[in-house]
Amino acid sequence: MITKNKILLNNSLNTSNLVEKIGDDEKVIVVDNIKFHLENIIKKHPENKIYILVDENSYKYCYSYIEKTFATSPNIIEIESGEKNKNIDSANKIWNYLSDNGADRNSLMINLGGGVITDIGGFVASTFKRGISFINLPSTLLSQVDASIGAKVGINFNNLKNQIGLFSPAEQTIIFPKFLKTLSKKELTSGFAEVVKHALIYKLDAWEELRRFNLKDVDNTKLFDLVVKSTKIKHEIILQDPKEKGIRKALNFGHTFGHALETYFHNKGVRILHGEAVAIGMICEVFVSNKVLNFDLHKMFEIVEYIAINFKSYTVEMQDYDEIYSLMKHDKKNSDNKIRFALLSKIGEIKINQTCEKNDIFQALNFYYQLKK
Ligand SMILES: NC(=O)c1ccc[n+]([C@@H]2O[C@H](COP(=O)([O-])OP(=O)(O)OC[C@H]3O[C@@H](n4cnc5c(N)ncnc54)[C@H](O)[C@@H]3O)[C@@H](O)[C@H]2O)c1
Ligand SMILES: [Zn+2]
Repeated sequence: MITKNKILLNNSLNTSNLVEKIGDDEKVIVVDNIKFHLENIIKKHPENKIYILVDENSYKYCYSYIEKTFATSPNIIEIESGEKNKNIDSANKIWNYLSDNGADRNSLMINLGGGVITDIGGFVASTFKRGISFINLPSTLLSQVDASIGAKVGINFNNLKNQIGLFSPAEQTIIFPKFLKTLSKKELTSGFAEVVKHALIYKLDAWEELRRFNLKDVDNTKLFDLVVKSTKIKHEIILQDPKEKGIRKALNFGHTFGHALETYFHNKGVRILHGEAVAIGMICEVFVSNKVLNFDLHKMFEIVEYIAINFKSYTVEMQDYDEIYSLMKHDKKNSDNKIRFALLSKIGEIKINQTCEKNDIFQALNFYYQLKK
């Protein structure tokens, strides 16, 4: 079903009905009636053994959609929002709450929030008493199409991202696109970078459809449709390579530059979100794809133009190219001291474990630099 460089989905992308199961196992579903689907799961657990993890925003904007599912007031555990709180102190707080409030093997943790909540909630649930059940109700675009699917859970450690964690699948991920209505434009744009990535690594038709979508003037019906399609692409890749031994690395497209740029901007005190850095990363990596794999020049400019129009532009100083290069050298995906990329030979054809010359990396950064002019 899948070759090293081609991703084929086994189920059709018909999304006329928004209530969709993503893949055959029904582990990931997209729904327009969240209460109904949630009831089916929570009835398997005593209500006083249900714990809902939120941050202040997911509580404020999303909890009301599920509140009436519960006959009595459920246990709500709130942690402060933000990546800086995806750490052992928050995990401790949650473990303590579970311990003090009678959580046991019959308990269910409901992770209601963005990727920070689904990552830390999944981690805490998977480690408490050797693991209690958890489900994800992702409430950001990034978490709906990416973070809540694929079983990676964890926390940051010593200022390094996702250093402590494990593969542990959620009992179910319920995607309710209406949650996205309250998301800020910046967060929506950040998540949209992963939607762009999924289309590019999947196939030309997906890209053609996506590039008709205007992020500056969002049509929610079209957005929700794209969420379904994007989720299917990630889910299908995960099914084929759950532990990232091969094709799952395709999901790193845009991320070798992207991660380095994210750290570079953070070090400079510039508030850039993950997806915004990945968007710049995709510009650089489609450029490198042209150099290394002869990716079509016309298509390259098409992609670059779309990203340049729809995503915020940031300044990468020329004198900082060496710093960015050295950050890329420290990427945990590297091996043999070589920087590794997932690059495109065509739209829909990805080649993993690619390398390039230092000069190509500098040229790619320069290409992005020139775009600003
Ligand atoms: N496990 C994986 O495979 C995987 C993949 C990609 C990313 N991640 C992780 O995901 C995290 C990023 O996820 P994120 O972008 O969702 O960030 P996030 O969880 O920090 O959410 C972004 C912001 O949106 C707010 N928010 C959440 N839902 C909202 C809503 N419906 N309306 C308004 N505001 C809302 C949050 O409170 C937060 O301020 C990172 O920690 C990253 O490492 C994990
Ligand atoms: Zn990403």
